[in-house]
Amino acid sequence: MSKHILITGGAGFIGSHVVRLFVTRYPDYKIINLDKLTYAGNLENLKDIESRPNYIFEHGDIVDEAFVNGLFEKYPLDGVIHLAAESHVDRSITDPMAFVRTNVMGTCNLLNAAKNAWKGNYEGKRFYHVSTDEVYGELHNPQEFFVETTSYDPRSPYSASKASSDHFVRAYHNTYGLPVVISNCSNNYGPNHFPEKLIPLMINNIRNKKPLPVYGKGENVRDWLFVKDHARAIDIIFHDGKNGDTYNIGGNNEWKNIDLVHLLIRLMDKKLGNPEGESTRLITYVTDRAGHDLRYAIDATKLMTELGWSPSVTFEEGLAQTVDWYFDNWDWIENITSGEYQKYYESMYKL
Ligand code: NAD
Ligand code: TYD
Repeated sequence: MSKHILITGGAGFIGSHVVRLFVTRYPDYKIINLDKLTYAGNLENLKDIESRPNYIFEHGDIVDEAFVNGLFEKYPLDGVIHLAAESHVDRSITDPMAFVRTNVMGTCNLLNAAKNAWKGNYEGKRFYHVSTDEVYGELHNPQEFFVETTSYDPRSPYSASKASSDHFVRAYHNTYGLPVVISNCSNNYGPNHFPEKLIPLMINNIRNKKPLPVYGKGENVRDWLFVKDHARAIDIIFHDGKNGDTYNIGGNNEWKNIDLVHLLIRLMDKKLGNPEGESTRLITYVTDRAGHDLRYAIDATKLMTELGWSPSVTFEEGLAQTVDWYFDNWDWIENITSGEYQKYYESMYKL
């Protein structure tokens, strides 16, 4: 069946994998990618699918009311998959208002536009909000996992802004009957991951023999999921999820940061032809992140049992694929670190 789906943030890390999956898997759908192309947005991520007939790019800001309403007039939208966000915790500590603007105001703006355009005719309509496990706060007891009913306890400006947007999504469902689904996912890794985040930053710095900054003692724990498995989960939840429901997505794959850095050193030194462990000397312990959450861990039982999702790759396979991708695409990361891609888009889209 043909559908028009607006995907926001489709030029970013996870969004680009979601756009590719939908454009290639559903040739009958029209996929409209709305992205502001902030520092994190990069159309290079979508080069392989940009000329497909069912793909359209719309450059704009989710906070811009007239622009977002205009998209609902321009296209007969059946669905929204909302990923656009400011996504980096460290940036949220230095510039929290940017997170309030995009993550809270932008989400409300999209909800309002969908409500006004769909006017209560919700048959075949769906608003999918992509969120994070960080809204649940941090875990201390190793036996504990985040489930869908865990109380919200956001502790960084980033997670507070995402928690706020989740609340608005549920409020629009409860108050106006808007057909929504929400998913809360653990840390993603994979190709096209922006090199300010832990895994691509370490890969790039090991290659360039630069210091590997480990916050605090490196004992914080994250649950890592391959980005393509997140995109697959979004596809399943978008099509089969229950209206008003929340689904946790996770890799059941917890790593202490310092252990993960050692693993990356092993993989990278091997690929670079370095003596084993050579890059260990690059590890540099630095001042801890303010309010650094200790541990995140997702229980994804609901998604696995109700909707039949499970990760398609092990961490070993996913990480090997990721390292291989960076080795085949050093120019991608170099364009980012040199600012070349931003200059190109600044002139093209008059940013
Ligand atoms: P990202 O930072 O790589 O990409 C964000 C994208 O949104 C970029 O393309 C950017 O240009 C766009 N954008 C930002 N502000 C915008 C605005 N005002 N209007 C339009 N577009 C705008 O982020 P990501 O890591 O791909 O995360 C995508 C979503 O998934 C976010 O909502 C994030 O909270 C959520 N999430 C991320 C992770 C993770 O590990 N990265 C885990 C769970 C959930
Ligand atoms: P990050 O990739 O920023 O994701 P998040 O903060 O959303 O979990 O960081 C993952 C973990 O790695 C987190 O505990 C912070 C830590 N970290 C470092 O130790 N050094 C770094 O340079 C970065 C970017 C993160």
